[in-house]
Amino acid sequence: MTFLLTGADGQLGSELRPLLQARGTLVSCTRRGGSKDRPLDLADATVLTALLDEVRPSLIVNAAAYTAVDQAESEPDLAHAVNGVAPGLMARWAAENDAALLHFSTDYVFDGRKASPYLEDDPVAPINAYGRSKLEGERQIAASACKHLVMRTSWVYASHGQNFLLKMLELARDRDHLQVVSDQIGRPTWAGNLARYAVTAVDRGLLAAPSGIVHAADAGACSWFEFAGAIFETAVSLGLLDQAPALREVGSDAFPTAARRPASSVLATGRLRKLLAIEPAAQRAALAQCLSELRATPTANMVSD
Ligand SMILES: NC(=O)c1ccc[n+]([C@@H]2O[C@H](COP(=O)([O-])OP(=O)(O)OC[C@H]3O[C@@H](n4cnc5c(N)ncnc54)[C@H](OP(=O)(O)O)[C@@H]3O)[C@@H](O)[C@H]2O)c1
Repeated sequence: MTFLLTGADGQLGSELRPLLQARGTLVSCTRRGGSKDRPLDLADATVLTALLDEVRPSLIVNAAAYTAVDQAESEPDLAHAVNGVAPGLMARWAAENDAALLHFSTDYVFDGRKASPYLEDDPVAPINAYGRSKLEGERQIAASACKHLVMRTSWVYASHGQNFLLKMLELARDRDHLQVVSDQIGRPTWAGNLARYAVTAVDRGLLAAPSGIVHAADAGACSWFEFAGAIFETAVSLGLLDQAPALREVGSDAFPTAARRPASSVLATGRLRKLLAIEPAAQRAALAQCLSELRATPTANMVSD
């Protein structure tokens, strides 16, 4: 099997890289390219089509995305091109060439007003430009009728990249008090687990047909405030921090952002359990794995901004 992996240096992409390598021939792509990677800018449809025609993958794994949620408000056309148009092109190429597409989407396709966890078929109503661009990708993939699976995930973190966990650890270096938002609820998901859910779907043959959407998130719905508490407790227990900073919960209005976020975008994962026959990982176990990885390579992974 030949895999074409996009976004191979992202949080998810870098976890997928070794798992796909172990399962077949991997052609990995990053925006800039490199010694092991092909260059691929998803905003350039001509380059994407030429690469697909050359590599002729049996499975396209699209881990690339425009993920700058606030910046998307001022760059909606670029977000639309990368998150909407490019996945649509991949899907149509897959339909015409008997290939399959594994794609990732977001809890931000929902408006966050539902009191209980979101099911795959619940009405979508994104409240920001990023969510609208990702929804466009979902729609174009479904319309292509190619063999595909779309995994909607949420609050992704890893020991590398830009994410809430690394931001909290960075802030905790200099401050003994932190204010964290408590009126947004979601399911934090370690990229290592998300990659595992994704390859399990491949292993179980779910890409052999148009399988639709499945929600893929680790267990443990919480607020950012609660998640910060769990991060610091785990970091202290692993010796990554001497002491946790004191946390104070605040509302989202304390940190105005360009993009609005859903208040509660908890994903229901019953379908994941049924299709993959695995349980979503427990939050504390996932955090411990990610932070242990960070402890093994601390300097390479701390955020700089
Ligand atoms: N992060 C989250 O909290 C979250 C939540 C819900 C859903 N998701 C979804 O989960 C998937 C994986 O996200 P992630 O957390 O791994 O994101 P990430 O760490 O931001 O990685 C995204 C990758 O996409 C690449 N990319 C961006 N624009 C590109 C372009 N024009 N052409 C080619 N590559 C481009 C980036 O490359 P550069 O490094 O060069 O920019 C980066 O390597 C995405 O579909 C995302 O929408 C993420």
